[in-house]
Amino acid sequence: MRALHLRTADVSVVLVAAGTGLPRIAHWGAVLGELSAADLDELARVTVPPVVSNTPDVPVQPSIVPTQAEGWLGSGGLRGHRDTGWTTPRFAVRDVAHESESVVEYDAIDEGAGLALRLRVELTREGLLRTRARLTNTGELPYTVDELTPVLAVPARATELLDLTGRHLRERSPQRSPFTLGTHLRESLRGRTGHDASTILAAGTPAFGFRSGEVWAVHVAWSGNHRALAERVPFGDAILAGGEALLPGEVRLAAGESYQTPWLYGSYGAGLDAVAARFHAFLRGRAQHPSSPRPVLLNVWEAVYFDHDLAALERLADLAAEAGVERYVLDDGWFRHRRDDTAGLGDWYVDEGVWPDGLGPLIDHVHARGMQFGLWFEPEMINLDSDLAREHPEWIMAPGDRLPVESRSQQVLNLSIPAAYEHVLARIDAILSEYAIDYVKWDHNRDLIEAATRATGAAAVHEQTLAFYRLLAELRQRHPALEIESCASGGGRVDLGVLELTDRVWTSDTIDALERQQIQRYTSLLVPPEMMGAHIGAERAHTTGRRHDLAFRAGTAVFGHLGIEWDLTEATAGQREELAGWIAFHRGVRALLHTGAVVHGDHPDPALTVHGVVAPDGSDALFALTAVTTGVAAPPRRVLLPGLDPAARYRVEIAGPAGVPAGTRMPPWLTPGPAVLPGAVLTTVGVEAPALFPEQLLLLRVTRI
Ligand code: DGJ
Repeated sequence: MRALHLRTADVSVVLVAAGTGLPRIAHWGAVLGELSAADLDELARVTVPPVVSNTPDVPVQPSIVPTQAEGWLGSGGLRGHRDTGWTTPRFAVRDVAHESESVVEYDAIDEGAGLALRLRVELTREGLLRTRARLTNTGELPYTVDELTPVLAVPARATELLDLTGRHLRERSPQRSPFTLGTHLRESLRGRTGHDASTILAAGTPAFGFRSGEVWAVHVAWSGNHRALAERVPFGDAILAGGEALLPGEVRLAAGESYQTPWLYGSYGAGLDAVAARFHAFLRGRAQHPSSPRPVLLNVWEAVYFDHDLAALERLADLAAEAGVERYVLDDGWFRHRRDDTAGLGDWYVDEGVWPDGLGPLIDHVHARGMQFGLWFEPEMINLDSDLAREHPEWIMAPGDRLPVESRSQQVLNLSIPAAYEHVLARIDAILSEYAIDYVKWDHNRDLIEAATRATGAAAVHEQTLAFYRLLAELRQRHPALEIESCASGGGRVDLGVLELTDRVWTSDTIDALERQQIQRYTSLLVPPEMMGAHIGAERAHTTGRRHDLAFRAGTAVFGHLGIEWDLTEATAGQREELAGWIAFHRGVRALLHTGAVVHGDHPDPALTVHGVVAPDGSDALFALTAVTTGVAAPPRRVLLPGLDPAARYRVEIAGPAGVPAGTRMPPWLTPGPAVLPGAVLTTVGVEAPALFPEQLLLLRVTRI
């Protein structure tokens, strides 16, 4: 057996391969320290189970890319076929390139099957385990890949699951279940990541929480069809797996052609906060991660919708600038024929009727007030009522003559057709070249249904996803200073594939602060605050009809990349002043919020939530105590403020322009002034919480003395 130890400061992965087989995960979890070659051999030996009755005569432990040739009858791994047979290759490893302490690449081949596999396993410096496989058809006849899903074995003590699901306006809703025998499969065939994407599929020790338990989580870095699964079988290891979900015949490799899986990411930690911290550190470590303070933006969508009027938009810009906004985003409705959501998609020319002098006057007005300018696009879509659809009906995704059902009155533009791709690239590039545009909001407002190339009927989601990435990369290369927001009817495209090429996500179309409390809480399992768009909306939320105080709306939004999405011309002078106070507050704390560690208190009463951000050196923190509903128990009792340095002393004081919300019963320790306490007391003993009215929050600033 060959064993390899990949490790960072706090994670170890031990890969073990029997003979010339592909490696399996013998350990993924807490760091093991120095292990000699002899220790690794012993580790490999003690992690082989006995053979039991009526199972294969070899122990069944799935490699990272198992096939039936290993005796594996569970999910994942490679499934594919040739018309002539050879459905289950047995790969023999020919070469192992141990590139560094934490990167290894296995080259394997099955000559008889005519297939070669390159498997890469990395432990990133943040402690993320990531793997991907590349399959090459070395045979002469075509080989169809039905599935290539890397598999990560997890320990049997992971007996509970947590994953996310959701819908438009309610993204990333958590669901928990026991990790029982059988398969918990989360598949998204929406042609985009999806509002119901699992985002994170976590297995953990009993009752794991944000701060407790051991947790292993996977994420598929892909913006098209994908699946993630957790499976426990009676005859083998428990696994987490994930990869692209291929449509029938979608990847058919001719001789010499290859298919590469998306990265499957795994994050291990003590509690969900530790799992999330690795993703945050990884995203923050990207070369292209924005280093400038995240500009407070105003998006005009919920202020004007399709009603574009230069004078009104300029007035909005004036009020935004007065309030401290730094970036102004013109949303849907600026291009030809786009007077509502039934027409115009594809016609990426400034509408001459609505904008007789082009966008220049508005952009100049915005820039003159010291703000950046952003513009909305939806490049992968087409309305039948557009010049583009009339000129190029063959560019519409469809299984043939018949068109798929419409969704938001639109169809999908097939970017796997080179001419269609070049056309869209040229149009967006032309707009970005003509005008001084700093930011693009890139939207995608429908699922892909019957997404095929019209001329052939061949499924085209895989190619469409690759073309989308190419388009983003090409535009970024041509316009290096441009920032891009990933939006898909709100948070329908949030994944590490798109985040390689974009700078923030539009977290959800709901800016109802109560809904946002939960959506942001769980989106932050993957996305750090500075990449999570969070807006302050009108007093009455457009998507739910709920009314919230500005303090609750703003106190919720300040934790992300702050924006305003509110018709400020309808706000009173007093409201605008209050808003300006919140924007100033955010600007004062964003350096902390956008670099620190995101923490959550596991408060036993679901009526009260605790979340915060702690500076990397533990010197500073901002917490929010939020009454998301009324509690049965009153007062809600002690809360723990996690993540602080236990040995340091901290000053705790009420923060934010709004102070203590009306109606709150304050605990005596926090009145009248700041309290000074050791970190150990705040984190381990906790402090009595205020009794807040529902849908109110209190901010606490915790500063090391
Ligand atoms: C959906 C987005 O999520 C909204 O913010 C807005 O941009 C609309 N599309 C515009 O059509």
